[in-house]
Amino acid sequence: MAEALRLGEEARGTTAPNPNVGCVIALAGAVVGRGATKPGGRPHAEAVALADAAERARGATLFTTLEPCAHRSHRGPTCAHLIVAAGVSRVVAAIEDPDPRTAGDGFRILRDAGIAVEVGLNADEARNGMAGWLTRLKLGRPRITLKLALSIDGKIALPSGESKWITGEDARAHVHLERARSDMILVGRGTLLADQPRLDVRLPGLEERSPRRALLTRGEPVENWETLSSPEDVFRLHDVNDLLVEGGSSTATAFLAADLVDRILLYRAPIIIGEGRQSVGYIGLDAIGDAHGRWEARDGRSLGIDRLEVYERVRTH
Ligand SMILES: NC(=O)c1ccc[n+]([C@@H]2O[C@H](COP(=O)([O-])OP(=O)(O)OC[C@H]3O[C@@H](n4cnc5c(N)ncnc54)[C@H](OP(=O)(O)O)[C@@H]3O)[C@@H](O)[C@H]2O)c1
Ligand SMILES: [Zn+2]
Repeated sequence: MAEALRLGEEARGTTAPNPNVGCVIALAGAVVGRGATKPGGRPHAEAVALADAAERARGATLFTTLEPCAHRSHRGPTCAHLIVAAGVSRVVAAIEDPDPRTAGDGFRILRDAGIAVEVGLNADEARNGMAGWLTRLKLGRPRITLKLALSIDGKIALPSGESKWITGEDARAHVHLERARSDMILVGRGTLLADQPRLDVRLPGLEERSPRRALLTRGEPVENWETLSSPEDVFRLHDVNDLLVEGGSSTATAFLAADLVDRILLYRAPIIIGEGRQSVGYIGLDAIGDAHGRWEARDGRSLGIDRLEVYERVRTH
């Protein structure tokens, strides 16, 4: 299952509107098939892994990060039926498909065919890996990650607006990896004007993984950029699982004020800027008590000379 999760994570940012599923087929202690959802969302991971395993799928165990699909489509047989036809004897899935139209049907088809089914292995990791798609199903919008590169004293630029570069190479390489795993990146028009950012992926082997670019502006559209005229426009993005918001300050403020941030990647450099641009402005907060309980630290590590801190929005409903 760890290998299936890894395959699914590698596909993150390429499969929307479908989930980034990973699948591994094992027979007699050896891996005989591997698959992940292909770019654009088809073929599904199980179909790819079954094709890879071919005859060796007979009597094997299939590990998948998500319940195999069961709703018939004109684009071919369902994964549940493919698994039955291939003669797989056991299926281990991390999580059930939460889509109420299919939930449980995939497992039912497998069990009716005499296949042993187990559900729940590494469920938390799978939910984490498919957070974008799960957020879209639940909230009707992408999972939104806000990236901020800060000084020790929380500034994102000099008073002049200069911000290249606050963080070092390792932190920037990590940002490029997050870009590659997002379906879309967004900046405000101020950042476009100040930095002329390319927002592409400059990592060896991942150059093809540059996501769609979007601009937050109340003004005219810009060529080669999709336009969002308010943060609430994210509800129109039906084919984006993961949206990465890269600033600047007013854009971060607008998304936070609208409570449209699910995760914060905070890259903190060991420098002090002093007078400079604040990372975030007024977000509608009038009592310090209201600020507590909203964010939870999920990860913290060094990236070269910088520190990465990851926070997630606590949502109880
Ligand atoms: N350190 C970092 O992580 C980092 C990252 C990015 C940028 N920066 C720095 O941040 C500075 C730019 O920040 P900034 O605050 O001036 O600009 P910004 O947030 O990039 O862009 C501001 C523009 O975004 C649009 N906008 C903002 N809120 C909106 C809303 N609610 N609805 C619709 N459109 C909205 C408006 O565009 P229109 O005026 O076109 O309507 C606004 O003028 C630069 O100095 C840049 O170098 C730092
Ligand atoms: Zn499927």
